[in-house]
Amino acid sequence: MVKAIEVKGLQKSYKQLQVLKDVSLEVEKGSIFALLGSNGAGKTTVVKILSTLLNQDGGNATVNGFDVTTKPDHVRQAISLTGQFAAVDEILTGRENLIMIAKLRYLKNPRQVADDLLKRFGLTDAADRRASTYSGGMRRRLDIALSLVGKPQIIFLDEPTTGLDPEARIEVWKIVKELSGGGTTVFLTTQYLEEAEQLADRIAILHEGRIIASGTLSDLKKLYPSAKVEYVEKQPTLEEIFLSIVGNKEAI
Ligand SMILES: Nc1ncnc2c1ncn2[C@@H]1O[C@H](COP(=O)(O)OP(=O)(O)O)[C@@H](O)[C@H]1O
Ligand SMILES: [Mg+2]
Repeated sequence: MVKAIEVKGLQKSYKQLQVLKDVSLEVEKGSIFALLGSNGAGKTTVVKILSTLLNQDGGNATVNGFDVTTKPDHVRQAISLTGQFAAVDEILTGRENLIMIAKLRYLKNPRQVADDLLKRFGLTDAADRRASTYSGGMRRRLDIALSLVGKPQIIFLDEPTTGLDPEARIEVWKIVKELSGGGTTVFLTTQYLEEAEQLADRIAILHEGRIIASGTLSDLKKLYPSAKVEYVEKQPTLEEIFLSIVGNKEAI
């Protein structure tokens, strides 16, 4: 497997609070990887370290083959980040937002880049309206479109659907699937088990500073205690698997 991201023994504390104790993971090029964890588990901390916004205390991480600590510029050229809170400029129109970022990235045809992305994200009709008039789902789509200016190979989406209504969430899922279909590697974080279940090729569960389980959905299903499976008619949901694993860990 060609690895887009490799993380080994990552550690990070904020003063006394040890958020990441020992995080290791690998993401295959062109795949969708979901880092699943409750609020405060440390997902954003992992994303910030991988996107060179924050230094780790221990362990190492490479993104697109470059070490995040020693080659941050190379890493930044390969990635884009869509944070938990939209980075859209409300005063500008959707089109202006895109053109601004394309210019900041010194692209040759900012208008063309903007037009293409507006079309791809179903925002052509709303292109010349201020972003402040957009619905939550439209804003999030514009936000993801902004992060795609310049065609990054790896895209980090930190809780891309938190706060969205179910319809807008499905729109974002569709976009994520399309991105991956086009060869982009997607690293997303989520608190929603269903989201990981719907989208991810591989899932890692971050809990109390460690990856307590990882693999494909079917790998994770195998971890679900078989004795319990006998009593349910349907396949276990990721939620049941999650609770079962987290519950077990807490019992130790
Ligand atoms: N800059 C910071 N200073 C102190 N504590 C922080 C800082 N950033 C995050 N934390 C704490 O670290 C923990 C993990 O945060 P975060 O990575 O944002 O988790 P998640 O994204 O999974 O919700 C939380 O308890 C949070 O309050
Ligand atoms: Mg977060």
